[in-house]
Amino acid sequence: MSVADTKVRPPQPIEVPRGLAGVVVAQTSIGDVLGDEGRYHYRGHDAIELARAGDFERAWQLLVLGSLPEPDADARFHELVTSLRTPPPEVQQFVADAATRQIDPLRGLQATLPMLAAARRSRPLYDLDDEARVEEALAVAAVAPGILAAFQRARAGDDPWPVSSSGTGVVEDYLFRVTGREPVDRAIRALSAYLIATIDHGFNASTFTARVIASTGADMESCIVGALGALSGPLHGGAPSRALDALDAVGSDSAQVDGARIERYLRDELSAGRRLMGFGHAVYRTADPRSRLLRQVALEFGGPRVELAVEYERVAERLLAEYKPGRALHTNVEFYAAIVMEQCGIPREMFTPTFAMARIVGWTAHVLEQARDPKIIRPSSRYVPA
Ligand code: ACO
Repeated sequence: MSVADTKVRPPQPIEVPRGLAGVVVAQTSIGDVLGDEGRYHYRGHDAIELARAGDFERAWQLLVLGSLPEPDADARFHELVTSLRTPPPEVQQFVADAATRQIDPLRGLQATLPMLAAARRSRPLYDLDDEARVEEALAVAAVAPGILAAFQRARAGDDPWPVSSSGTGVVEDYLFRVTGREPVDRAIRALSAYLIATIDHGFNASTFTARVIASTGADMESCIVGALGALSGPLHGGAPSRALDALDAVGSDSAQVDGARIERYLRDELSAGRRLMGFGHAVYRTADPRSRLLRQVALEFGGPRVELAVEYERVAERLLAEYKPGRALHTNVEFYAAIVMEQCGIPREMFTPTFAMARIVGWTAHVLEQARDPKIIRPSSRYVPA
């Protein structure tokens, strides 16, 4: 066989596990999830330690610019991303108009990003050099939190674009917009921990989606619109509000936690073959380290709601071991994330959007990395007659 023959032949099909579980589809320097060890990192830095340190903008720089910044670079980065926070007037107007249709904030951001791309005259990543792509990455991630909050605010009849102090960091500014009041330190610290802990997490469905779109050379906004769609599903980023719905179903007006009621509810759910939201993970076979962190953050808030969550977790883990023996199902990031966000005063409809605002930073880092590889992602399927 000549070299020319091997070049023209299409690659032979290779069967891979359902859901691509365990299949390595790319190399990445952004981070890694060590599922058996119960830990993960961003560019070699322990993600939970970064979350505990609580500086969202430093983590953002690590992910997107490639390293933790020198102290004097922090102020410049802060100034830059603050200047990118407010969208152009035509995009603000679009949000105000669209919000009157009661579109939910996540879909609202999906609808707005193409408008933003038009207003910013975004170009396909394929046509940009690396420096210009990084500018795109920062611009989209900087503007997204305000757009998400604007949809929620406009739906509630509030000014979609309130002016916050220019000195505020990303997390503080977001909390101000979403809750409508100056956030207290405890809420800023708690939400920072959550957001930093969720910036990136391996080749999950939404990150992979972003990378598939990036591999076509499309613009940054298109990559993020697609990833938002993947994140919205209940098996991925749509779980936290459902986890709280479950707590509502087993809670009572009295401060007393009713273990028997929790057990009855959970047995009904599991017997009906329904999944418990906020439990289980595609990669972790130990406790999800993000859940451990957020449990701790929730316990610092304390109170009957947190006690209810702790008891619910205890009973759920026992019953999951009974109904799904040998599978080691524990809480994932979404269970205590719901409690933490609730304690921070974030309304339920903003849980998945809040997750999204952090993950957008991670997606943009992945899009940049993917865009440096000129190979389009194009797997195959096996035709099976129906
Ligand atoms: N409740 C009940 N049963 C479960 C749960 C759960 N939360 N999670 C998994 N199982 C069951 C599955 O049904 C399966 O049972 P079967 O073999 O009898 O069919 C068994 O456990 C094994 O499932 P896995 O292969 O471990 O799970 P998979 O990798 O397919 O799915 C997922 C992972 C989607 C997270 C799943 O655990 C789930 O649906 N959890 C609930 C939704 C949720 O919390 N999503 C947020 C995930 S975190 C994130 O995306 C940021």
